[in-house]
Amino acid sequence: MKSLIIEINNSIEVFEIKNLQDLESFRIAFLGSKGQVKALYGALKDVPNEQKKEVGQLINNLRNLAEEKYNNFKDNLEDHTNLNQHFDFSRPGDVNEIGSHHPIALVRKEIVDIFSRIGFSVSDGPEIEDDWHNFTALNFPPEHPARDMQDTFFVQKGEKEMALRTHTSSVQVRVMETSQPPIRTISPGRVYRNEAISARAHCFFHQIEGLYIDKSVSFGDLKQTLLYFAKEMFGEQAQIRLRPSYFPFTEPSAEVDVSCSICNAKGCNVCKHSGWLEILGCGMVDPNVLEAAGIDANIYSGFAFGMGVERITQLKYKVNDLRLYSENDIRFLKQFRASW
Ligand code: DAH
Repeated sequence: MKSLIIEINNSIEVFEIKNLQDLESFRIAFLGSKGQVKALYGALKDVPNEQKKEVGQLINNLRNLAEEKYNNFKDNLEDHTNLNQHFDFSRPGDVNEIGSHHPIALVRKEIVDIFSRIGFSVSDGPEIEDDWHNFTALNFPPEHPARDMQDTFFVQKGEKEMALRTHTSSVQVRVMETSQPPIRTISPGRVYRNEAISARAHCFFHQIEGLYIDKSVSFGDLKQTLLYFAKEMFGEQAQIRLRPSYFPFTEPSAEVDVSCSICNAKGCNVCKHSGWLEILGCGMVDPNVLEAAGIDANIYSGFAFGMGVERITQLKYKVNDLRLYSENDIRFLKQFRASW
């Protein structure tokens, strides 16, 4: 009996289990109701009484060995089988979302690139601005009604009342105060107005200011520069038209329309069937502004322009609600993946 137990012990140990089928054969051979271990329990009744305890213990050990081997392989094989069932290893992996540039940043960069190709540098100024740079030096006298054109947020800075700049024209003044002509610069930045937020108005938005000062700069130079910009931005077919307008800091002043790129100037909802869309304000820098910033208006002249980046972005990407730019909705932002 003991030698039989040793024999079965060996065959349990050497039994090779490679798959579920082998495992089932193992179970039938050793643990099943007709298996070898069961048969040993059956044969126990013929063992002399004084040996029963010892032999019974040996058979128990044998059963434990077989069960242990069975369970180990079962767990292992089932783990792998489950893996194979639930995972399709040919599936693409989970994609990590990567960020994208904001549409305003994309368009601002495009505008900066266009002007840097014709020699414009980039200049910067503070968003919390004093009255001088935002208004007075730009030919808005105190109490002048033109100040009402731009609803201003005021903030207290120590004793001084400051404004959140209402336009990037303030940077013109700073550049002219700190450098002498020739000046050719653009100033992108954020501006603030005290307006109720809606699809068409916002309390903050972005502008790009342009300034060109040199000897004998003419209105023709202004027009050609803006036509170049329109064609670079909206395509070779783009046309511009200038309408007389008023700004305190330019004389003469004009508002500029670009031919509607959405309907090819044929007339559509966006251009209100006129074929034209307003994109910027401009004019010849008023001699008062040159003088206020320390530039001799008898020697130098220049032009300036200011455009809203949101407006250009709206036309370029057909965005019809200004609020989308600051809501940080990923479904909106991820549409602007760019190549840089
Ligand atoms: N600052 C003006 C605005 O915010 C835009 C503007 C108009 C800027 C004419 C200029 C300009 O430089 O010459 O509405």
